[in-house]
Amino acid sequence: MEKLRYERPVINKIKAGVPDKFGMSTRINTITEIEGIPVKDIIKGYGSPVFVLSESKIRDTYHEAYRAFSTRYPKIQFSWSYKTNYLDAVCKIYHSEGSWAEVVSGFEYDKAIANDVDGGKILFNGPDKSDADLIKAIENKSFIHIDHFDELYSIIRISGNLKLKAKVAIRVNMDTGIYPQWDRFGFNYENGEAWNALNRIMLSNNLELVGLHTHIGTYILSANAYGIAASKLSELAVRVHRKFNHHIKYIDMGGGFASKNTLKGAYLPGKDTCPSFDDYAESITSAIINSEIQPDHLPTLFLETGRAMIDDAAYILGTVLANKRLTSARRSTIVDIGINCHWSLMIIGH
Ligand SMILES: Cc1ncc(COP(=O)(O)O)c(C=O)c1O
Repeated sequence: MEKLRYERPVINKIKAGVPDKFGMSTRINTITEIEGIPVKDIIKGYGSPVFVLSESKIRDTYHEAYRAFSTRYPKIQFSWSYKTNYLDAVCKIYHSEGSWAEVVSGFEYDKAIANDVDGGKILFNGPDKSDADLIKAIENKSFIHIDHFDELYSIIRISGNLKLKAKVAIRVNMDTGIYPQWDRFGFNYENGEAWNALNRIMLSNNLELVGLHTHIGTYILSANAYGIAASKLSELAVRVHRKFNHHIKYIDMGGGFASKNTLKGAYLPGKDTCPSFDDYAESITSAIINSEIQPDHLPTLFLETGRAMIDDAAYILGTVLANKRLTSARRSTIVDIGINCHWSLMIIGH
């Protein structure tokens, strides 16, 4: 066994784990290995600092999320949120599990195509789609999630010129009891904007309304908020059917589930305070199946879960460069890690 290095003694004030007025202490437990591979070996092979992602943890979390939803609802489709992590190796793990791609820019759209995702399995979100992006998406039969009226009119113009029917959904923002409300993106539910957009789509010859989308925020600690959002989207689907005899093919609940990490200043550990996939799934699926949507026309439930799917699988390893004592007598450590790190990457797979 390797001889342990001498470490000078330090005096630590005992904290029994009770949060003080600043929340839980931000002490981070050190780890010496990841999935059986010693941290030292990883650093020796890949340098320091280095990001490490665990493929098996990614797959396990995906399976857990899929189980929670698919046992409660018959038609589930996850779509990997490229912006959350668009490393090709990471995206390909999700695609190999059956995830489609959710993209928010021409850059991400091209990345999904380069990762062999069929155009018909791409959800195109975001408020900034160029004409060239829209042409590509219409030709590839991707699902375009319209953000605002100017985009709606551009799609009507472009699909008319192309003489092709664009497959579209609208992004809807709404009051779900989460404040401040995320109303920057999409059409508002309460003021009638979303209903107005849906009527315009239904009256256009060039557009096929396929879905309804929302993304209510991120690290949302209330599963109930998702139930409210799913009820509102279901209600829109019912209204579209009543007025136009048209069935919505999917409801997309976006992302925003809280991951299990503890945010700085939080009073209790994330794993104790954050809802589980089961909690979110219960709330969303109850709202849809208890709505007035006809059972033989249940829409597919799309999920664009990002952080809750990958946070636990990622590590950053680094090296202590020096120790210092600050004028306040606090101990300070200089490390080679920062949130701006763009160095090496290792993916531990099987
Ligand atoms: C439209 C959309 N979908 C999905 C996500 C992923 O969200 P999260 O990582 O919170 O699950 C985001 C993140 O901002 C988003 O804007």
